[in-house]
Amino acid sequence: MSSGKATASAPANIAFVKYWGARDPARALPLAPSISMTLERCRSRTTVVPLPASRAGDADEVLRRGPRGELEPAPERFAARVWRHLDALRDWAAGGEGAGAARPRFRVATENSFPAAAGLASSASGFAALATAVAAALGRDPLGDPGRGGLGRAELSSLARRSGSGSAARSVLGGYVEWPSEAAGGDDDDPRAAEIAPAAHWLLADVIALVEEAPKTVSSLDGHRLAPTSPHFARRLAELPGRLDEVRAAIRERDLGRLGPVLEEEAVELHLIAMTSRPPIFYWRPGTLAVLEEVRAVRAPGSGLAAWATMDAGANVHVVCPAEEAGEVAARLARLPEVRSVIEDRVGDGPALHDEHLI
Ligand code: PMV
Repeated sequence: MSSGKATASAPANIAFVKYWGARDPARALPLAPSISMTLERCRSRTTVVPLPASRAGDADEVLRRGPRGELEPAPERFAARVWRHLDALRDWAAGGEGAGAARPRFRVATENSFPAAAGLASSASGFAALATAVAAALGRDPLGDPGRGGLGRAELSSLARRSGSGSAARSVLGGYVEWPSEAAGGDDDDPRAAEIAPAAHWLLADVIALVEEAPKTVSSLDGHRLAPTSPHFARRLAELPGRLDEVRAAIRERDLGRLGPVLEEEAVELHLIAMTSRPPIFYWRPGTLAVLEEVRAVRAPGSGLAAWATMDAGANVHVVCPAEEAGEVAARLARLPEVRSVIEDRVGDGPALHDEHLI
């Protein structure tokens, strides 16, 4: 691949077994493995343009699609996380090419396919797209196999993780993904993700009920830092190996009746730990409970529907169900007064490169 302007898109993902609690939160070094389903429609798309060497002393420029639909300079906090990730990617590139290698500056533009105010975490999709686009802009083939000169997904997941978002490490792969995974190589200081099964293995939907549109008030970074202060955290770590085995088996056997209870247990436990951290963190809103109740009603005996809920570090509820039931589940959730909107997403194939650029 030649170096130069590059555009990549990457999807968000929904964790079945959560990454919550880190040995080193800033470096996204987790205390336990997590498993997620990569989504298809909720995506970030990012264009990266290397600046000429004459501008090596300049700062990276970061543009973001704003509420009026225009690309505009990103707010300071957003830009600062992009700068830190770009620095980490430059370190990686310089390490690969010798210490004297040039450290290119970039112009970056990014947008999300889902509403920015939806309160959905976009760090996974955003940093997975940025890592993929930067690798391509530096002349590497980010999505190709290592045996054929490509970077390989294991290394790409390492690059995405260097953003500080562990869930970004999972978004560079499609289907069902585990991070860290022994199958991906890596080590404790460089945890990497691997696919458990491709998207086509099991067509599940994620019907997302939005009950809160404001961005969350406590970042997941703070959540990871505080998790070990909860009296429930040590027990969680002890129980996780069994739960991970259960989720791996449920995916292998495409058994939603087996996956569902673990999915809800995981979501409730993440929030139990958040609410009992010192100081405590409350992400749930009244609408969260309203949706959880409706999900139980949806799967009541005799309904013929299977639907199970999970939440990340926020108030919105992800309802996992067979793809062919997504329309009916979405219609049921949309009727609740607490639900502002519903996004129907499904398992997807992971990142892609594009010829159409944002800038
Ligand atoms: O990737 P981070 O640091 O934003 O952490 C992700 C945290 C959760 O979304 C709550 C759980 C997960 O595994 O995705």
